[in-house]
Amino acid sequence: MARNRKKLPKLGLLYLDYVLRFFDHSNFKGWPEKIETVTYHWKDDKERFIREVKRKKIDVLIGNIPATAYETFREIASELPLVRFVPSMDTQFCNKSKENVTRFAWKYGLPIPKTYIFYNRLKGEKFLEETSFPKIVKKSYGPSNYGGYFVHKVDSKEETQDLFAKQKYHPMYLQDFVPMEADIRVMLIGHKPVCAFWRRPPEGAWLTNTSQGGSMDYMDVPKSVLDLAVQTSKAAKAEYWACDVAYGKDGKVRILECATAFAAFPYIRDWIGQYLMWSLSGGVFKKPHVPMFNWEELSKIDKSLLRTMRHIAFGHFSPSYDGAFFGKNRKVYGEKKVYLHELDEIYPMLDVRQRFSEEWPSEKWNYQDRFALKSLKSMKIQGDTKDIPDPNGEDMESEPTTTPQLSRQQLKEVLTSVKGIGERKFDDIMKETGRVEEVVGILDQNPIMLTTIKGISKKIVTELENVWNKFRKKEL
Ligand SMILES: Nc1ncnc2c1ncn2[C@@H]1O[C@H](COP(=O)(O)OP(=O)(O)O)[C@@H](O)[C@H]1O
Ligand SMILES: [Mg+2]
Repeated sequence: MARNRKKLPKLGLLYLDYVLRFFDHSNFKGWPEKIETVTYHWKDDKERFIREVKRKKIDVLIGNIPATAYETFREIASELPLVRFVPSMDTQFCNKSKENVTRFAWKYGLPIPKTYIFYNRLKGEKFLEETSFPKIVKKSYGPSNYGGYFVHKVDSKEETQDLFAKQKYHPMYLQDFVPMEADIRVMLIGHKPVCAFWRRPPEGAWLTNTSQGGSMDYMDVPKSVLDLAVQTSKAAKAEYWACDVAYGKDGKVRILECATAFAAFPYIRDWIGQYLMWSLSGGVFKKPHVPMFNWEELSKIDKSLLRTMRHIAFGHFSPSYDGAFFGKNRKVYGEKKVYLHELDEIYPMLDVRQRFSEEWPSEKWNYQDRFALKSLKSMKIQGDTKDIPDPNGEDMESEPTTTPQLSRQQLKEVLTSVKGIGERKFDDIMKETGRVEEVVGILDQNPIMLTTIKGISKKIVTELENVWNKFRKKEL
């Protein structure tokens, strides 16, 4: 809630023991106040961690959560309702598992290879009897599964059965095999692509893995790929984001992976830091100018040098100054040739605002723990998997029920019926939160949050809670 704040929020960097640090203080060059750090020590450290965040009076906690700490941090976040996590736990949903990436893509209709997920081993076995090959089998969840190490191409039912008998991956996660030219990593800040490169498989291989002899280059990443990456970043409401897009031999693009945790050169992390300073200060600091296709130019610099370069800045296009590289250069893009600075308008760096309603609550989406294996030997799971949505199965035939929408006017009537909230304060609340659904989310889940808005006291919030609960009861 930056805009109506009287002062800058207190920032904290979130670290975990044994996990590579994505940010440090130097990425937030020029931030005038002390930036705290809080380190999670794993094993039963939840309560201590929460106390430390409270004691340090942190408003915004910045950092990536690795897969194996994701559920713990959802709990931590819910016990720290006044702390904004950047990226939010909802945005980091995809960090946890390949299953989560898939469910995220299913929800937003984003293209991915056709995917099959089975918690119920018997159903999975039955699927193997009926399906065609080749397929790809992946381990969905686990510590640091990167680089194709837990990704297998299978050519027959028998091979797949053997694999699952040996590896005991749970859930069973399979995809149609997509023949591809290459995959492309796109990094984004505020939904704007800031870096992109091709990863091509070695001759005759299917895995586009550069650590196994594949090649990398930064030239002419297609429009369709950048557009899909932007769409994905927006769906995740991501302050920063990386997306691996498969460029199929059929010319189609599909998402392979996406997350907020990725490897990036320090200068990219500087841009993210600058961007966050701009966003969290409500514009007190300057937004970094990161021109489109800068990566084609920067990649000409030797990698070992680029790795040490910090706080790289570019000049803006100005019509009277013809020395600016990004001003006069044109590029074939999509169907036509365009000036690079025109692309900066098509791909703006947008302000990602805080969200208040939970999109991916663990009570519903943590299938991993709800349907865990009872024992590796029996392969039996706890619970009944009937309620797991599967867009490929019969269960998706009925439309998902949506809750009825409240109009702005209705919301205003409820809120202004509280003593202490007039038209002006209602407008302030709307300005801070942006949308009616967000206010509903706050009131349902986290009303105390509203005290961060100027002029809203704890007393007003208590009163508001009463009024809101009554309204909710009447409505249902
Ligand atoms: N459905 C698929 N069809 C063909 N190749 C795939 C498919 N899924 C993944 N791959 C290949 O395997 C690589 C690793 O898969 P990915 O899902 O990115 O897992 P990891 O977490 O190991 O990086 C990809 O970069 C791609 O080359
Ligand atoms: Mg990958």
